[in-house]
Amino acid sequence: MTPRIVVTRKLADPAMAALREAGDLWSPEPDRTLTTDELHAAVAGADAVVSTLQDRIDGAVADAAGPQLKVVSTVAVGYDNIDVPALHERGIVVTHTPGVLTDATADLAFGLLLSVTRRLGEGERLIRERRPWEFHLAFLLGTGLQGKTLGIVGLGEIGVAMARRARAFGMEIVYTGRPGGRRADPAVEHELDARFLSLEELLRTSDAVSLHCPLTPQTRHLIDAEALATMKPTAYLINTSRGPVVDEAALAEALRRGALAGAGLDVFEKEPEVHPALLELDNVALAPHLGSATTETRTAMAELAARNAVAVLRGDTPPTPVRS
Ligand code: DGY
Repeated sequence: MTPRIVVTRKLADPAMAALREAGDLWSPEPDRTLTTDELHAAVAGADAVVSTLQDRIDGAVADAAGPQLKVVSTVAVGYDNIDVPALHERGIVVTHTPGVLTDATADLAFGLLLSVTRRLGEGERLIRERRPWEFHLAFLLGTGLQGKTLGIVGLGEIGVAMARRARAFGMEIVYTGRPGGRRADPAVEHELDARFLSLEELLRTSDAVSLHCPLTPQTRHLIDAEALATMKPTAYLINTSRGPVVDEAALAEALRRGALAGAGLDVFEKEPEVHPALLELDNVALAPHLGSATTETRTAMAELAARNAVAVLRGDTPPTPVRS
């Protein structure tokens, strides 16, 4: 029987074409995020669901789909929105899209670091608001990165890509594994001249801290008031991982008090909401979850997600499964 494939948000054309060839394709018209009820109705009878991080995929969604559901393929590297054990228990394969968004995400993380340390947002706001300004030697001075220490939390693929960019800007690298994570390969440590530290030491010594860990019960609010108090008052925090890794209220308060120099945030605790206190602060560079948002990267993510779904439908091993 022709498999039914549900795609919750429209993907790049090549991926849609590949899925259309593999089965009966359904996606919402017009393209939009489905409500929980719409999602449950849409997946009924699906053999494959290709979803995004906006969709909460749990046992209830699997049950709404029915016992024929074989694969949930998310178009994202992070999969904290998926109840993987509940799906695995039901024999459903879960796949994600690591690798293809590494450079785009690291570019954005480094861009946020440059943006907040060089006060680009402040400068742009000043010009757009048509406020008077003139060049002078003490005008909108930022902080240079050369010779400073970047602390990376989670030296996986994206963390390594961020560290490479930082090395090219003359920064020293220290890193810590995500809780329960392992020390990096010695070859990676050697290439980056990276020192492994405990989280506490990393927070205490870094001039900028960049978060590259997945959201898990162990990393939720990993950066809380206590962690922020450990950081230097001259330090910056960059988050392109998941919003809830940072306690946003505590961050806003630390920034307001001058206990931290600034932050660059691409992700938020309750997206698309942003803690109102953060919006009041000039020393925060904000982006609306754009880490992987380039045409090239989103096309590659969609194609990989399609390959994953089609592989499982054909009884093959998918390229990038999520393991239990
Ligand atoms: C991911 O893939 O997890 C990003 O957050 C969105 O691309």
